[in-house]
Amino acid sequence: PKEHTLAVIKPDTPEEHREEILKEIQARGFTISQLQETVLSREMAEEFYKEHQEKPFFSQLVDYMCRGPCTMLILTKENAVEEWRAMMGPTDPSKAKETAPESLRARFAKDILENTVHGSSNKQHAQEKIHFVFGEISSESEVVSA
Ligand code: CMP
Repeated sequence: PKEHTLAVIKPDTPEEHREEILKEIQARGFTISQLQETVLSREMAEEFYKEHQEKPFFSQLVDYMCRGPCTMLILTKENAVEEWRAMMGPTDPSKAKETAPESLRARFAKDILENTVHGSSNKQHAQEKIHFVFGEISSESEVVSA
């Protein structure tokens, strides 16, 4: 069965990297069911990353995510959550370069904070974050038919 995940191309990603990421997403067989450029408010970024609010890097993370437009994507494919995470590679690009040199973070991320892309960590988070970002548009039937 097809599954959805929320993918984010984070602020400050150069346009040529953004285009390459979008091309690669399609080349790997994902359907881009929704795409939206969004500038997150601080409040939205804090809510989006609420699972990380106790982390020492939380305020830096919120600053980064509000700095400019994010490309918000709903990706649809069998096993989409896991496959998008594999495509991104590990959070820390220095680790990604060691263990997954073809991954997006190995190729494009600046450091562990400014790591270019985000993806939901499990199906429940995917549903929650899709709803948060896309609201009504993301009701299951509409996403599947998109
Ligand atoms: P992401 O996968 O979007 O989920 C949480 C984000 O917090 C992560 O990508 C990074 O942008 C950031 N992050 C995770 N760990 C650290 C860290 N140790 N130091 C700074 N930023 C981090």
